Amino acid sequence: MNVTRAAAHRQLTIRTMEMRDLPRLVHIEKQTGAPHWSQQRFKAAMQTGDRINLVATVGNTVVGFAIARLIPENDLCGGDLDACRGKQAPPKGPASPPVYLRLLHVAVAVDWRRHGIGAALVSQFEQFLRLPQDCIRAAVPETNLPIQLLLRSTGYRAQRVLRDFYCSEDAYLMEWQRD
Ligand SMILES: CC(C)(COP(=O)(O)OP(=O)(O)OC[C@H]1O[C@@H](n2cnc3c(N)ncnc32)[C@H](O)[C@@H]1OP(=O)(O)O)[C@@H](O)C(=O)NCCC(=O)NCCS
Repeated sequence: MNVTRAAAHRQLTIRTMEMRDLPRLVHIEKQTGAPHWSQQRFKAAMQTGDRINLVATVGNTVVGFAIARLIPENDLCGGDLDACRGKQAPPKGPASPPVYLRLLHVAVAVDWRRHGIGAALVSQFEQFLRLPQDCIRAAVPETNLPIQLLLRSTGYRAQRVLRDFYCSEDAYLMEWQRD
């Protein structure tokens, strides 16, 4: 498929993931080379209140997805939320608790890579942050240069190395904060 970046942008829509997307999500996941997300896992993510699950579509075709989790405090690995904060952006105000999001996964179909779709997906999570201390964190494998460059291009900064985060592989902790 030969798509130009401009064509992809013109038709690109980002919406919440739905059950009907499952076959296409699994297909895209298989293209990652190291699929960790089964149909069951996608399904569970959609049924869990603390997740924000997005898909990017061009026309009627799902071309990518991104999944983030609301986490309590700044626990990188995330625990279960005592109370789900819901999927709406929290109201701005001094009483609002800080929002921490952990980016769990992002993937784009092979034919649609390098058209700004991954960046568009990841940038959507920024709307959930309001306060200066709110942040989005991601642990990215040290060998996965595309995701590191994607996050850098959308304003994430590497904070530190997480030793053996992926079994024997180190990860970089990358963080996005509204400045
Ligand atoms: C990582 C991934 C999501 C990137 O999606 P994408 O839609 O191709 O990324 P974008 O087009 O939005 O890229 C934005 C910027 O990121 C950087 N970038 C993304 N992929 C890159 C690559 N393969 N090589 C170099 N830079 C890259 C570039 O700076 C790019 O901007 P540019 O195209 O103007 O140079 C995609 O390669 C993918 O699905 N990989 C497999 C799944 C995966 O590894 N996910 C991460 C799990 S931790």
